[in-house]
Amino acid sequence: MKKIEAIITPFKLEEVQNALNHIGISGMTLMEVKGFGRQRGHKEIYRGAEYQVDFVPKVQISLVVDSAMADKVISVIKETAKTGKIGDGKIFVYDIQEAIRIRTGESGLEAL
Ligand SMILES: Nc1ncnc2c1ncn2[C@@H]1O[C@H](COP(=O)(O)OP(=O)(O)OP(=O)(O)O)[C@@H](O)[C@H]1O
Ligand SMILES: [Mg+2]
Repeated sequence: MKKIEAIITPFKLEEVQNALNHIGISGMTLMEVKGFGRQRGHKEIYRGAEYQVDFVPKVQISLVVDSAMADKVISVIKETAKTGKIGDGKIFVYDIQEAIRIRTGESGLEAL
């Protein structure tokens, strides 16, 4: 199993979510977050401002999926979250050791 965590620009959320529903994901977690990347939250880096940081609102989605489906999920997010402008976001991928559905006690892929 893999966990795919994507930090994206909020106005792309609906499009990303629709595309993910389309490929049959079984669950997803959404968090409203604030962050910065290389531009430290600025549209341009200007002299003297290198150490000043502005946190920009983003949304973070995370999904735990069968490893066999991970590449598909990643490419759907890559394609739908992209505007080509700075701040489009990032995708981080983790190995997941275990998953448990609390109601039934199922584990592993069956718990997803
Ligand atoms: N190295 C990182 N570690 C953790 N979170 C990050 C990292 N880089 C970016 N993020 C998160 O992703 C959001 C979007 O990052 P962003 O797309 O601006 O990255 P970038 O490297 O500056 O790329 P770009 O040049 O396209 O803007 C940030 O606001 C932050 O929440
Ligand atoms: Mg950036």
